[in-house]
Amino acid sequence: MTPRKEVVVIGAGGHAKVVISTLQAAGWQVNAVLDDRPQKWGSEIFGVPVRGPISAALEMPESGAVIAIGDNASRRRLAQELRLRWITAVHPAAVVHASVRLGAGTVVFAGAVIQPDASVGAHVIINTAATVDHDCVLGDFAQLAPGAHLAGEVRIEEGAFLGVGTSVIPGKCVGAWTTVGAGAAVVTDIPGGVVAMGVPARVSILKKKP
Ligand SMILES: CC(C)(COP(=O)(O)OP(=O)(O)OC[C@H]1O[C@@H](n2cnc3c(N)ncnc32)[C@H](O)[C@@H]1OP(=O)(O)O)[C@@H](O)C(=O)NCCC(=O)NCCS
Repeated sequence: MTPRKEVVVIGAGGHAKVVISTLQAAGWQVNAVLDDRPQKWGSEIFGVPVRGPISAALEMPESGAVIAIGDNASRRRLAQELRLRWITAVHPAAVVHASVRLGAGTVVFAGAVIQPDASVGAHVIINTAATVDHDCVLGDFAQLAPGAHLAGEVRIEEGAFLGVGTSVIPGKCVGAWTTVGAGAAVVTDIPGGVVAMGVPARVSILKKKP
């Protein structure tokens, strides 16, 4: 039996607006938004009610679910805590080649392009107009902010965050849970667990791994 195209969204912040609009554009019926902040309960996002705490998702096992929280470590924590049917959402205005592998819980926003044989892990965010060229590999919980560009055969490890407009030249690697600042040009491998910024990107402040 084909699973119903019904979904619950976890998180009611700004990122959730884009996730919900993406889901709706892709033909999903978004039944509820859940958030642990009581002040959000009773509000609506694009006609979808914010119904209550995240734990309420466990009472909707029939529904698909997606975590609409921009913080990579928070998405990992929730994905580990909640056993839900994580769905993958691709905006109809994104271009994703048929050979691309997309993990559960991953969202691809409008204007994004993912080229042949790229592999994208679970709960990844490919934000507005980001591009991923051929044979790139993105680990679980990674995130490309709007307009980030990966040339071919780039590796982005688990939980890494690439800020708005980052560019990465072919074959380079950004290590796990690293943050790359907006506008950076990555022209060398960047280790895990650091902050890197600038053109060319250099390691700046040491960051603790989650
Ligand atoms: C890199 C980043 C994480 C650093 O954040 P932070 O630790 O709060 O840094 P601060 O704002 O305190 O700035 C520290 C210094 O780094 C510089 N800096 C900050 N971001 C920079 C960037 N992207 N490129 C170059 N320099 C940067 C600041 O000018 C400042 O320099 P100074 O010490 O000479 O004054 C952040 O600035 C950034 O670029 N985030 C990306 C955000 C983004 O793309 N979000 C997308 C959401 S969808």
